Amino acid sequence: EQKTYILAIESSCDDTSAAVLLNGKVLSNVVATQKIHEEYGGVVPELASRAHQQNIVPVVHTALNKANIGKKELSAIAFTSGPGLLGSLLVGTSFAKSLALALHIPLIEVNHMQAHILAHFIEDQGQDKPSFPFLAMTISGGHTQIIRADGFFDMTVIGETIDDAVGEAFDKSAKILGLPYPGGPLIDRYAREGNPGAFAFPKPKVDGLDFSFSGLKTSILYFVRKHQKEDPAFVEHHLKDICASIQYTIVNILMDKLKKASKETGIRQIAIGGGVSANSGIREALKKGEKKYGWKTYIPKFEYTTDNAAMIGITGYLKYLENDFSSQNVTAKARFKV
Ligand code: KG4
Ligand code: ZN
Repeated sequence: EQKTYILAIESSCDDTSAAVLLNGKVLSNVVATQKIHEEYGGVVPELASRAHQQNIVPVVHTALNKANIGKKELSAIAFTSGPGLLGSLLVGTSFAKSLALALHIPLIEVNHMQAHILAHFIEDQGQDKPSFPFLAMTISGGHTQIIRADGFFDMTVIGETIDDAVGEAFDKSAKILGLPYPGGPLIDRYAREGNPGAFAFPKPKVDGLDFSFSGLKTSILYFVRKHQKEDPAFVEHHLKDICASIQYTIVNILMDKLKKASKETGIRQIAIGGGVSANSGIREALKKGEKKYGWKTYIPKFEYTTDNAAMIGITGYLKYLENDFSSQNVTAKARFKV
């Protein structure tokens, strides 16, 4: 078998990542997470692109060293060209273009949203890979989409958020409760010990398979304000129940649309991606779906589900096999449809 080494670069948001793959197997996957945004309670684009500038050379070096290969052995360079923060994307894009030019090897642009889905095809994850067609739900701090996948590069977005991403809904709710950023994992942790039926939050009314989360945030804000008037320590006294109720609402919003998508398409293979797939409520609901609706659900290894370059690498490798290369004129694009 031919040995195809792909160097992959991801810089679409606040993680600088580089990976080396050999024929679809991950040899290294290095992620530098930017801490600077914590004190601002969200990603600051200008700071993100500056941090990518500082991180990219050491991260690529580390990825090559861990894979124990030299630049000269690389077959191609894959990189995220979008969607994402433009200033962040430009760092990875310029770096990838320059290195490919210097090494005289092909350049492969990768769509970040496709990559989240193709992460399921990274080798050696100790689980089955989904087969086409399947539904993919990508849920993170930046995305909330339901995609119908009919082939590696034959994907259709059938539902997406019209405002906040689901991770943002978790993080913004957590912020209202006074929890540090990113609060999603903390809500999950407290929710496990609380009563999901303690408080009721309204579910948005959105047509079709689309999502909306901005109303939930507002209703939580009013709910907290109202109760704090009577009991200034209301949140402290009821934190677990509030978190459980918020999580219950968010999980229901996601599951309602997923059920609808499965029913409408007749597809029962469901692949989840993005950082929010770590959520215990979502994992439980998916298990229930397996029993109740005959679903088969897939979740990648955690390191391949949050933003990472390994998923860019597997997508790049699949494109490499199809000789789908990019020219030096390729540009970063904040918006990029799958
Ligand atoms: O994929 P990711 O690492 O980065 C991007 O946003 O692209 O996702 C991060 C998001 C954050 O909003 C974080 O709060 C959320 O995923 N998250 C969770 C959990 N773990 C991470 N939300 C709820 N429950 C969790 N266990
Ligand atoms: Zn992402």
